Amino acid sequence: MSADDKTQATADVPTSANAMWGGRFQTGPDAIMQAINASIGFDQRLYAQDIAGSRAHAAMLAAQGILSHKDAEAIREGLLTVLSEIEAGKFAFRVEQEDIHMAVESRLTEIVGEAGKRLHTARSRNDQVAVDFRLWVRAQCDAAIDGITALMRAFLKQADLGADWIMPGFTHLQTAQPVTWGHHMLAYVEMLARDRSRFEDARRRMNECPLGAAALAGTSFPIDRHATAKALGFDRPTANSLDSVSDRDFALEFLSASSICAMHLSRFAEELVIWSSAQFRFVRLSDKWTTGSSIMPQKKNPDAAELLRAKLGRIMGATVALFTVMKGLALTYSKDMQEDKEQVFDAADTLMLGLAAMTGMVSDMEAQVANLRAAAASGFSTATDLADWLVRELGLPFREAHHVTGTLVGMAEKKGCDLPELTLAEMQSVHSGIRQDVFDVLGVENSVNSRRSYGGTSPVQVRAQIALWQDRLA
Ligand code: ARG
Repeated sequence: MSADDKTQATADVPTSANAMWGGRFQTGPDAIMQAINASIGFDQRLYAQDIAGSRAHAAMLAAQGILSHKDAEAIREGLLTVLSEIEAGKFAFRVEQEDIHMAVESRLTEIVGEAGKRLHTARSRNDQVAVDFRLWVRAQCDAAIDGITALMRAFLKQADLGADWIMPGFTHLQTAQPVTWGHHMLAYVEMLARDRSRFEDARRRMNECPLGAAALAGTSFPIDRHATAKALGFDRPTANSLDSVSDRDFALEFLSASSICAMHLSRFAEELVIWSSAQFRFVRLSDKWTTGSSIMPQKKNPDAAELLRAKLGRIMGATVALFTVMKGLALTYSKDMQEDKEQVFDAADTLMLGLAAMTGMVSDMEAQVANLRAAAASGFSTATDLADWLVRELGLPFREAHHVTGTLVGMAEKKGCDLPELTLAEMQSVHSGIRQDVFDVLGVENSVNSRRSYGGTSPVQVRAQIALWQDRLA
């Protein structure tokens, strides 16, 4: 570089090339290049995984005779120092270091000197980021599983409290048939159980170690990938080095499972918004999960539920974003893939917060049992029971029974009453065979008690399911 060139260098253009990869470069990157290129601003969240990966790698290199035991020991201690510096908030993350991998390695080298420069033997940032990120996502699967389990327990407790409380079941948000509170709560336990198993599945599939794939083709050093896989808690090393550095399925599976789970949260959130309204009064939300209005003193708004209804937007957005990043990428690693992390970080944070908030709301909510029952008894909710009675007792074909019942509903509607308030004479004017004992099936208790088919809403079935879940979640 001539003296002239040097004087032209502006203050925000680093003049020195990168110490890690700058051998063939004359100058450093433009400041804007640095801003678009660096991931240190967000991937510093991977510091613990990065250090764990490096520790496993260095120990393996020494065991294989690729690194001296003395250097390996210096690296081990140096990495622990770096870890404690970061955890104490004393570590200066600098944009010139680009990412967490180079930040840790360069600080390590400052601390231990020469040995630090040997750590990157038989490794690349491509397999390094793949292993760091997998470790992070794996831990988030565990956190999701725990969070979901806590929420399942909260729903189960509600189910146990009101196994036989009667409420309206809806289709099209129109009164359909009476159901039990316990049954409704257990519906969410089932959804969440599927969510949990999706995270368990994803975790099992992602639990292979990409470290040692190096840049893309493997390495000429006699490394032991089984040893590093084991040290990091993986079931085995990944089998193909090209796939190892280009795969982000684990992140996509995590996001997909998160999206489905967040969709379930949003559905219950919507029910809470409806149920807590003055028009429904099915539940009372506690002060802990609601807010007031600055102008309307009477208000108690279900903000947490509303936010939970919305959060799926972010998680689903992250899922679509990462699919879009990965789509059409030729093998193997491309820098596009650096766009994976912020999406997954945000989705994971959002999901964990959402699970915790929902667990709090479900634990604290109070069913308004009398209101639930009153609502269940209105809206001709036992019309199907009447039709079933006509089939069972009078031998009518179901279609005909349906028609007779529909006529009676129309009659009650005109009279402004519910089905049990029609007189026997009125009923007999529609079908002469109807007897007094029809009134036995028009009550909501009878209705729910009669639905004893497996998986049905009767308290007997619900209690059996509660017992099963109490066992499974014990
Ligand atoms: N910061 C990068 C990422 O997040 C690490 C891998 C970079 N590899 C490379 N060859 N530039 O994806």
